[in-house]
Amino acid sequence: MILVTGAAGYIGSILTEKLIDSGYQVVALDNLSKGHRSAVHKDAVFVKADIGDRPAINGLFQNYTIDAVMHLAADTEVERSFAEPYHFFFNNVASPLNLLDCMLSNNVGTFIFSSSAAVYGEPAEIPVSEVTPTCPINPYGETKLMFEKILHWFSRTKSLNSVALRYFNVAGASACLGEDHKPASTLIAAIIDVATGNRDFLPVFGNDYDTKDGTCIRDFIHVVDIADAHIKALQYLQSKKGFHIFNLGNGDGYSVMEVIEAARKVTGKSIPVKLCPRRPGDPVNVISSASLARSELHWKPSFPKIENLIESAWIWQNQHPQGYNDF
Ligand SMILES: NC(=O)c1ccc[n+]([C@@H]2O[C@H](COP(=O)([O-])OP(=O)(O)OC[C@H]3O[C@@H](n4cnc5c(N)ncnc54)[C@H](O)[C@@H]3O)[C@@H](O)[C@H]2O)c1
Repeated sequence: MILVTGAAGYIGSILTEKLIDSGYQVVALDNLSKGHRSAVHKDAVFVKADIGDRPAINGLFQNYTIDAVMHLAADTEVERSFAEPYHFFFNNVASPLNLLDCMLSNNVGTFIFSSSAAVYGEPAEIPVSEVTPTCPINPYGETKLMFEKILHWFSRTKSLNSVALRYFNVAGASACLGEDHKPASTLIAAIIDVATGNRDFLPVFGNDYDTKDGTCIRDFIHVVDIADAHIKALQYLQSKKGFHIFNLGNGDGYSVMEVIEAARKVTGKSIPVKLCPRRPGDPVNVISSASLARSELHWKPSFPKIENLIESAWIWQNQHPQGYNDF
């Protein structure tokens, strides 16, 4: 069985769905601080627990035969990480350390970690490869880098084989599951919120950056492609030992204004914007090279076009105007 943490969240729920559709059995763990119980696939075993809860996590490893852990549970909002650094370091570093210790004590040694392009900060080069220096510019990115370092050292000193997947900007939906963060915390989700009329305008944070139109540039990747990479990483770890890092992005950079323009075309909505000051912790330009994941994991994004990502999110939102509606 595969233990997925954060399985009621946006990416974790779609990963759980993909695992089950691919024939895996899943224990889906979430403390429901942000996630939605109804997003968890009906064939998964749902466990409501916090990854920092030692008796609960130890009990889980004793009750189920877990072969591998896919760890997605985390606090994720960059802006909030400046306001609540204690909470972020606790939940994204200390609590997963508990998870890691419990799994190793129960002889489980395969771990896949949701890392982030935020570890690169303002990247020293474009495209960003796995050897580009890491230098986070917000507490969130630092928590991801710290946990990668923990995995590196545990892989050298303990019976741990692990992969850190550094996602770039994740967007889109599967046929049944989508992103329901309130408020929307990512660009495409926020755009969809405006397109559906849930918000009056989209704040654009800074239009005076040194880019083609003055707005930040990002690399977007479909959530289903992210889920697929986890399965490829699991297969990879069957024959590879140690700790490995892979970027997951499409390799194309879109400015914020270009994404808005693409969304106007896909949705047919005007999507009003409001220019706002730059936000601390926002890098200017982040575009991946994911050639290592392509060559080593044999992973290839199925949704390379930004329009595909926006369209799937738009369709899901229209089918679920209240999101999961389970609060
Ligand atoms: N969304 C992106 O663009 C993106 C990009 C890079 C990396 N990531 C990483 O991917 C992972 C999933 O992100 P998401 O967008 O699905 O976020 P999300 O908030 O939708 O999902 C995270 C889930 O973890 C749960 N959770 C949080 N702390 C927990 C704890 N201590 N114990 C148990 N459950 C806990 C929450 O309830 C939530 O359901 C995160 O680790 C995030 O840092 C996301």
